[in-house]
Amino acid sequence: MSVLVTGGAGYIGSHTAVQLLGCGEDIIILDNFSNSSPEMLDGIRQISNKTFKFYEGDMRDGALLDRVFSENDIEAVIHFAGLKAVGESIQKPLEYYDNNINGTLCILETMKKHNCKIMIFSSSATVYGNDNPIPFTEDMKTSAINPYGWTKVFIEHILEGVCEADKDFSAVLLRYFNPIGAHKSGIIGEKPNGIPNNIMPYIMKVASGEYDHLNVFGNDYDTVDGTGVRDYIHVVDLADGHLAALAYARKHKGAETVNLGTGKGTSVLELVAAYEKASGKKVPYVFAPRRQGDIAACYADVSKAKKLLGWQAKYDIDDMCADNARWALKE
Ligand code: NAD
Ligand code: UFG
Repeated sequence: MSVLVTGGAGYIGSHTAVQLLGCGEDIIILDNFSNSSPEMLDGIRQISNKTFKFYEGDMRDGALLDRVFSENDIEAVIHFAGLKAVGESIQKPLEYYDNNINGTLCILETMKKHNCKIMIFSSSATVYGNDNPIPFTEDMKTSAINPYGWTKVFIEHILEGVCEADKDFSAVLLRYFNPIGAHKSGIIGEKPNGIPNNIMPYIMKVASGEYDHLNVFGNDYDTVDGTGVRDYIHVVDLADGHLAALAYARKHKGAETVNLGTGKGTSVLELVAAYEKASGKKVPYVFAPRRQGDIAACYADVSKAKKLLGWQAKYDIDDMCADNARWALKE
């Protein structure tokens, strides 16, 4: 039996593929390289010293999906494939709804046809919206302020509906907080196309000298030093959370929603200081106005992940910065 990893050439999918192969799982990757490249697949092979099947194509291509499920005995799908840039989703809402929601529906239809009943889904802390108190617990109401966020809210509802209709289906909806870091080998990591929206890839480009400074969005929040606070989580910890979710889903039916974070908040200035220490490079910054749509602080209540999945994050912010710098600043 195999595990299909959609979006497995991407940032989180590639790290999860490495962890799955390391545990002896047989995996198949499907990716259309819309935000990744074949190099990542080479990286997975190099680190794991294992082989796997790869299908290049779009998850909305029903004929391709049917072929993937006909040619393999797929027990579970870990579903990472999706578009994820918040600003772009505001510019191109139809593209985001089509790719993320229609893509997920195509996979679920094919799973139904081939009697595959486990899905682990990449949701996001963005579904907590802007007015829940911190720390966020899984039972809080969900909402969104942009099309990307709505795709996550809707897909969560779709999976809950699937589990309601089919009592043999298992879905684990993993709400990621802020994944950063890279594999400790320095072979795979995050490689965003164009100007990064997220802070860590931006810091990397400042530390490497490509940009001359970081804009710190807001220094007047009600936080430890006035800058935004987030729950950064090492991508390898996050990957291990998927293995724990898969083990859980193999034994339980129904839908469960679980936060994957560390439960600790780090401010922008604390992150910059940690990166400078880990990399030995300066990260000059200037204060800029608050970014529209940002909240002051966001971190997870991680008790459900520990209780239900027996999983908790192992790495701290210094590990995340050190591993990131090893990947990003290599020659
Ligand atoms: P990523 O862009 O690096 O990886 C996504 C992969 O999916 C890419 O390789 C891309 O080529 C592929 N893909 C996209 N649309 C596809 C399609 N129609 N058919 C086939 N492949 C397709 O992103 P990531 O950071 O690894 O994120 C993975 C998932 O986690 C996404 O669903 C994202 O929304 C979610 N998520 C990410 C973060 C984060 O900060 N990185 C936070 C919360 C949730
Ligand atoms: N920030 C800066 N300068 C930058 C970029 C970011 O100061 O150039 C600040 C932000 O204001 C925020 C913090 O750094 O305080 C983190 O910002 P990111 O853009 O890295 O992350 P967000 O928490 O805003 O959002 C990310 C993803 C969302 C996802 C959310 C929760 O972009 O899609 O994490 O998982 F929903």
